[in-house]
Amino acid sequence: MNDEMSDTSEYIHGSSLEEQHRLSLLNEILNESCLRELNLQPGEKVLDIGSGLGQFTRLMAQAVGGQADVVGIERDSGQITQARKLAERSGEAGLVEFREGDAAEVPLRSSEWGSFDVAHARFLLEHVSQPELVVKQMARSVRAGGRVFICDDDHGDFRPWPEPPGFPAIWQAYVGTFETLGNDPYVGRKLVSLLVEAGLTPVRNGGVFFGGCAGDDRFDATANNLIAAFLGAKDAMLSGDLLDEKTFNTAISGLVRWKSGASSALWYSACFAEGMAPK
Ligand SMILES: C[S@@+](CC[C@H](N)C(=O)[O-])C[C@H]1O[C@@H](n2cnc3c(N)ncnc32)[C@H](O)[C@@H]1O
Repeated sequence: MNDEMSDTSEYIHGSSLEEQHRLSLLNEILNESCLRELNLQPGEKVLDIGSGLGQFTRLMAQAVGGQADVVGIERDSGQITQARKLAERSGEAGLVEFREGDAAEVPLRSSEWGSFDVAHARFLLEHVSQPELVVKQMARSVRAGGRVFICDDDHGDFRPWPEPPGFPAIWQAYVGTFETLGNDPYVGRKLVSLLVEAGLTPVRNGGVFFGGCAGDDRFDATANNLIAAFLGAKDAMLSGDLLDEKTFNTAISGLVRWKSGASSALWYSACFAEGMAPK
């Protein structure tokens, strides 16, 4: 691989078993709403970049009818192995081709470039050092008039209330760690700009609600996803001078108490934007 093109960024969450559990939880919470926004049509060919454990990739493959080409690209071999296992366990091994590769230099065959109807990436751009390179690859991968759909976090829009004790410190360190690793925690607000920079025409943008409150039966899972994200990023957060272990532990205990509070609520949405390739 050409080193200038490959993405050398570190992935803050890693691919431990605990992280894979968190990723599965996130999929359970968000997939239905994300699929609705994507509005896939039967027979569409889909490319999913940063496909992780492939749960959403398989869902997209089902939505296009299970016959079309659906390819998932993932850099971490641990994630790919688990994605293939999960697909096999669900009897869906034939639905998606999981391919190991880097988002900045997507391993497509020459006949595949410009052939996909839809290129999709969710929660990837916040983890790469040059998101513009990735979106340009996505733009190249779709046919004339094809769609690029990107969905990502913007950590400026995260509002838990009542504020859990110790939350500002752990949140500041978490967001700061993205920046230390050379990644962009505010990429969500830039999605339309990235589409335009890649030569695409923006069509629409929006948010997928990723919060919840006491009384909502998915709130426990949403809060657990947040706690697991902090636990998974603990080493990265503590390795700089952004946070000490005592403050980290206080914040985690605060969150554990907060998630069963009678009036606890989290206000947050993942950003998405869709662009179209010139016809
Ligand atoms: C938060 S997960 C999201 C997975 C999946 N898109 C989903 O929504 O369930 C981000 C994934 O992107 C992968 N990733 C990070 N940097 C990458 C890169 N440069 N190229 C390909 N995959 C990458 C990570 O290994 C991880 O599996």
